[in-house]
Amino acid sequence: MDNINRPIEKVLISEEQIKNRIDEMAKEIDRDYKGKEPLMLSVLSGSFMFASDLMRAVSIPVGISFIFAASYGSGTVSSGNVDIHTGKGFDPEGRDIIIVEDIVDSGRTLSKIKEYLLECGAKSVELCTFLDKPSRRVVDIDVKYTGFEVPDEFVVGYGLDFNYKYRQYPFVGVLKKEYYE
Ligand code: IMP
Ligand code: MG
Repeated sequence: MDNINRPIEKVLISEEQIKNRIDEMAKEIDRDYKGKEPLMLSVLSGSFMFASDLMRAVSIPVGISFIFAASYGSGTVSSGNVDIHTGKGFDPEGRDIIIVEDIVDSGRTLSKIKEYLLECGAKSVELCTFLDKPSRRVVDIDVKYTGFEVPDEFVVGYGLDFNYKYRQYPFVGVLKKEYYE
C-alpha cells in the first residue's frame, strides 16, 4: 500500500464486494417495502457513503434524513453514552423508517435511536447496517439488513473513521495498530 493507504494493515472488504452486496440489500428492501415509501435515516457521520450508495441502488421511492449520534468520542472503545441530534423539521411520525448505520458494535447507538423514533410516533422502524461486529454486542437488538459481519478488529474506510480520519477509502480495511495505539 502506498500514499494515503499506508495506515491500512489489510483490506477486509473490497470496493467490488461492497457494490455487489449493496445491490443485493437494495433488492431485499425493494421487495420488503413494495408499495410503500420508507424514509432512510442515515446515522451521521459514518453511514453517509453507504446511505448514498444504498439509496441509489433501490428502485422504490425513498426519502432520506440524517441523524447525528455519537457514542465514541475520539477513542476506539464505546463509552455507552449516546447523544442524538436531528435537523429542524425532522418528523418521523407515521413513517416507515429504515435506520441506516455504518457498524453495529455494542448496539447501544441503534437501540437508543430506535427507542427515540418510536417515542416520536414512527409507524415502523427497521435497522440496516453496513457492518456488524456481533461478538461485541451488549444490547440485544434485531438487525433486519446486514451488509457484512466483521471480526472484532478496528476497521476504517467507506465512511468509517478513526479520530475523524480514513473515511475516504472506497474499501474497508483494518487499521495498523501503530495508528491508534
Ligand atoms: P455501538 O453503539 O457500540 O454499537 O457503536 C457503534 C458506533 O461505534 C458506530 O456507529 C461507529 O461509529 C463506531 N464504531 C464501532 N466499531 C467501529 C470500528 O471498527 N471502526 C470505526 N467505527 C466504529
Ligand atoms: Mg456511527
